[in-house]
Amino acid sequence: MEEQEYLAELVRRTSARTILEIGFNAGLSSQALLAAAPDIRVVSFDLGDHAYVHQAKEYVDRRFPGRHELILGDSRTTLPRYAARADRPLFDLAFVDGGHEVEVARADLRNARALCRPGAHVVIDDLTPWRPWGVGPTAAWREAIADGLIVQEEVLVDGVLVDEPSEPGDRVWAWGRFL
Ligand SMILES: C[S@@+](CC[C@H](N)C(=O)[O-])C[C@H]1O[C@@H](n2cnc3c(N)ncnc32)[C@H](O)[C@@H]1O
Repeated sequence: MEEQEYLAELVRRTSARTILEIGFNAGLSSQALLAAAPDIRVVSFDLGDHAYVHQAKEYVDRRFPGRHELILGDSRTTLPRYAARADRPLFDLAFVDGGHEVEVARADLRNARALCRPGAHVVIDDLTPWRPWGVGPTAAWREAIADGLIVQEEVLVDGVLVDEPSEPGDRVWAWGRFL
């Protein structure tokens, strides 16, 4: 199963309706999440360094009017600032796919947890420590489990359920729950 298909299926399995996404990029996962059910709302965070982020946002707004918010800036700053907003929802599901440095992934998991309801679902991408960009997310995810912040539910390597991430594999992601 591809990751976007997995996200949409997870939303249906869990009945998640309010979704936090860290790392919007070209908006492909946002679209998959929003398309999963008509009453889903997504708030995405992204640095906004790529010009195409703005075109992607316009496209998402045309396709899913009033259901998506994009907050630009470094997630280490924007998530805590967003948490202080009185009108913020408590999220049912977080998809962590932003900065891949361990410090950023660690902060994103902790800040996402603070924005989610207890027991909310969390998906992290790139648990591929055999690739340079997978080292940080893997370390941050393992640390969050060891610290009792998250319990892992499923891991998929190239769309196949496994017990733990293992080489070889191009796309590895995990689903867990915030404790
Ligand atoms: C892999 S892409 C996200 C892909 C997207 N989740 C999808 O599946 O369609 C990673 C994104 O994280 C963003 N990013 C990297 N570091 C960040 C940070 N410190 N704060 C916010 N966003 C960051 C990048 O700008 C990039 O768009």
